[in-house]
Amino acid sequence: MAFSPSHIISDWKDYYADVWGTQALRLQHTLAQSDLFSDAALSRLIDMTPREAYHVNYSQKTPGNPPKRREGQIKDLSGAEVLEVVRNGNIWVNLTAPAKTDPAYGALLDSLYSEFEGRIPGFKSYKRNLTILISSPNVSVKYHSDVPGQSLWQVRGTKKVYVYPAQAPFISQPALEKLILGQLRETDMPFEQWFDDFAQVYDLEAGQMLHWPLNGPHRVVNHGMLNVSFTTEHWTDELRKHYAVNYANGVLRNKLGLTKLAQNTSGLSYLSKLGLAGAVKFSPLNPQRKKVYTVDFEVDPTNPEGIRDIPAFTFEK
Ligand SMILES: [Fe+2]
Repeated sequence: MAFSPSHIISDWKDYYADVWGTQALRLQHTLAQSDLFSDAALSRLIDMTPREAYHVNYSQKTPGNPPKRREGQIKDLSGAEVLEVVRNGNIWVNLTAPAKTDPAYGALLDSLYSEFEGRIPGFKSYKRNLTILISSPNVSVKYHSDVPGQSLWQVRGTKKVYVYPAQAPFISQPALEKLILGQLRETDMPFEQWFDDFAQVYDLEAGQMLHWPLNGPHRVVNHGMLNVSFTTEHWTDELRKHYAVNYANGVLRNKLGLTKLAQNTSGLSYLSKLGLAGAVKFSPLNPQRKKVYTVDFEVDPTNPEGIRDIPAFTFEK
């Protein structure tokens, strides 16, 4: 079904503009029936996706926060076969650049951001991205934070989303700095069971999206059916300022052992940190390197969980 670019969000209220980015916000959208997320469209997209534009993950089923996820590969399978494995197995496929594979997803991304920008005074986004998540019944995503502004759009199925306050102790200042410096994997964040007492918990249904404050920790547990979701991420001038100051603080903490570091994004100390962030990021001092992934399974329709162990190898991207 075609969608109208001007009405992707169907329950917008003007006062939402006042809490955008500072409070978790659950909204209704019209994309649950979009042809872009049908089995046929997703199968075709998987068929067209190059190795550098997907991840397939597996983690053992456990209650609560799951163990570290494993990285795999898709080989000699059609997109339709992969979808069948997701439907019946225990895997999680993330297409990281669908807009590069098919411009229709880029057009969707532009439409939904222009809708938000039309409704939220002063909201100007750039460096946007859309990724598609296709995941098995009951799969969990470990407690983590993301670096850019982030939303989760539920298209098919239902998932439980736990959103935690974007502040210590849920995310400490040094952990945020490491995340931004690329020294802490998004999924290596310290988690305590009692954090759940302070989470906002949503059963996100098909046709709903969730936007939460910058760097807000979250974890996800699918209900018992195939889930199709997508994430959108973006930057704004304001988000970049936070990035720069926390980047600089991370460098100062590492190199000089400083521990009391202000997070304000104005004034003289902010400006010198902005200069430092710029100087470090584009020099050989830059601690952010390519990520190395260790692949140790292949998607396999003949096994109950949909995976088969293979000799481990690494790839960088
Ligand atoms: Fe996330």
